[in-house]
Amino acid sequence: MSAADISIAGPAPTTSYLFHRHALLVRITHWINALAILFLLGTGLNIFNAHPALYWGQYGADDDDARRWLEIGSADSPDGKPYGFLRIGSLTVHTTSLLGISAGADGQPQAIAYPAWATFPSYRDLATARNFHFFFAWVLILNGLTYLGYGLVSGHLRKDLAPRLKELSLRNIGHDIVQHARLKFPKGEEAKRYHILQKLAYGGVVVVLIPGVIFTGLGMSPGINAAWPWILELFGGRPSARSIHWVCANLIMVFIIVHLLMVVLAGPYNEIRSMITGKFRVDPETAK
Ligand code: HEM
Repeated sequence: MSAADISIAGPAPTTSYLFHRHALLVRITHWINALAILFLLGTGLNIFNAHPALYWGQYGADDDDARRWLEIGSADSPDGKPYGFLRIGSLTVHTTSLLGISAGADGQPQAIAYPAWATFPSYRDLATARNFHFFFAWVLILNGLTYLGYGLVSGHLRKDLAPRLKELSLRNIGHDIVQHARLKFPKGEEAKRYHILQKLAYGGVVVVLIPGVIFTGLGMSPGINAAWPWILELFGGRPSARSIHWVCANLIMVFIIVHLLMVVLAGPYNEIRSMITGKFRVDPETAK
């Protein structure tokens, strides 16, 4: 049963009660997805470290300055001190300690794009990172198809995640942004459904970002590329597909940071319990 299926007739309850919020299949696929994404991001950053630059078009290599639009690296300042940098187009930002130069596994500074703590494995090992990356990519694909299949058949995607036309009004979106900024989370009947910012964020991840990393990833995979070369052609070449893959992965990272922050602010015990057992505590509208 989905959140939108349940409504309480009669006067609004004056005490808190438990409500069945998430179907079993949504909960199982959510946690498998979280595990797969964790490994995909860690291994993806390790793979990116092997060549920490992005190009646009059909080709791209070390000396292809014209096609390179992003680079993470290190250089020496005029006084001979090394610094880390992120370069996007003509903009260069110093990022020592985080990007370009950071502490290695032994605590000593090392020249590496993404830091050891963010990559899996934490040391340079392209072969292991690629093996794990490809394994979890298939976990993500099969798990995602299960979630989408269930979501379509049960109506979960249509009823709970797809925004209604009237919810898309600027007034409603503005109201939701203000409520979030004031850390006011819905209570009573309103707490039983996703509000518009949640729908846009979840919908964006499910319909755009995850399919985006999957399609660009499939396109770059040599076996799939041999069978279906049209995927890479669609993105305008391997370097472009790799760029879009990286952008989608970074937007997923941004989503996760905001998602976890919201879970903590909305009440981590109730939120995480609802994604494990399905049961969500609804507080009465009068509760502070
Ligand atoms: C340890 C990390 C995570 C925790 C603790 C967590 C927690 C939660 C919780 C509590 C909800 C329910 C929110 C509500 O009912 O209002 C939720 C829903 C959701 N989460 Fe996460 N999440 C995590 C990782 C992720 C990741 C990595 C993704 C995808 C990139 C993701 C995508 C989603 C989506 C799409 C939903 C809506 C599911 C639906 O109703 O169909 N989560 N998460």
